[in-house]
Amino acid sequence: INEYYTLSNGVKLPKIGFGTWQIKDGDEAYESVMMALKNGYRHIDTAEGYQNEASVGKAIRDSGIPRHEIFVTSKLESHIKSYEGAIEAFNKTMQALEFDYLDLFLIHAPWPWSEIGKECHEGNVAAYKAMEKLYKEGKIRAIGISNFSPVDIDNIINHCEIVPHVNQIAYYIGLDQKATIDHCNKHNIFVEAYSPLGTGRLLNHPTINEIADKYDVSAAQICIRYCLQKGTAPLPKSTHEGRIIMNTQVDFEISSEDMLILDSVKKDF
Ligand code: A2P
Repeated sequence: INEYYTLSNGVKLPKIGFGTWQIKDGDEAYESVMMALKNGYRHIDTAEGYQNEASVGKAIRDSGIPRHEIFVTSKLESHIKSYEGAIEAFNKTMQALEFDYLDLFLIHAPWPWSEIGKECHEGNVAAYKAMEKLYKEGKIRAIGISNFSPVDIDNIINHCEIVPHVNQIAYYIGLDQKATIDHCNKHNIFVEAYSPLGTGRLLNHPTINEIADKYDVSAAQICIRYCLQKGTAPLPKSTHEGRIIMNTQVDFEISSEDMLILDSVKKDF
């Protein structure tokens, strides 16, 4: 939990982050983030779209941990595809979090959630250029994208100045993301893995449980360790302290033979 990856611009990213998608604003988000920080997490992932930035920011500020010791990510709402809109949304995020800088800001998706798959190449470039400006002003330490395919990534690389530092994608055992991960590696774009437990749906999988028994760990720990051994940063979410702690206890090594078995798992959801 105290180990880091280094992004292409030299910024250090704690290997395991705490995901806050689907954690309700108010006490639930406040207390979960507080528990995560108390138990050693120093990387918290939120988004305007999760509608919990205010509670997440308050927990971080109230934790007593110096702000610079915590890596905080937020995201630009998926329907905002203009330069001015992105600047305005960033300012709104900063007001909600009550921070004076952000560690990582991502375009949440290449298309609005209401129109998944729609091509928004010009809009993504416009929004990203606003993020480049904020980055150059020192208001954000790293910038990137989320849910971007190789084509969406190339659009940014071909029309913008700064190669994204991060692409945050859904990644878990049984979800094939090879094409996107290879493309990111080629361009030195770091891959973060959201829903590393398959939103919890992988935890009953028989093969994963067999391997978990072999290493005397839980299925969740196998899922998280798998993402780490693939060189990605997993962002597990939980609102329960025991699980929040368990998800950081992944100091073991899955053998290459067992990694291959996990590579061949087919998700059944
Ligand atoms: P809860 O928040 O009630 O603990 P993902 O990170 O892939 O999105 O998965 C999150 C889901 O997995 C949530 O439903 C969460 O439930 C559950 N979860 C997280 N960690 C564990 C764990 N160690 N054991 C069992 N379930 C877990």
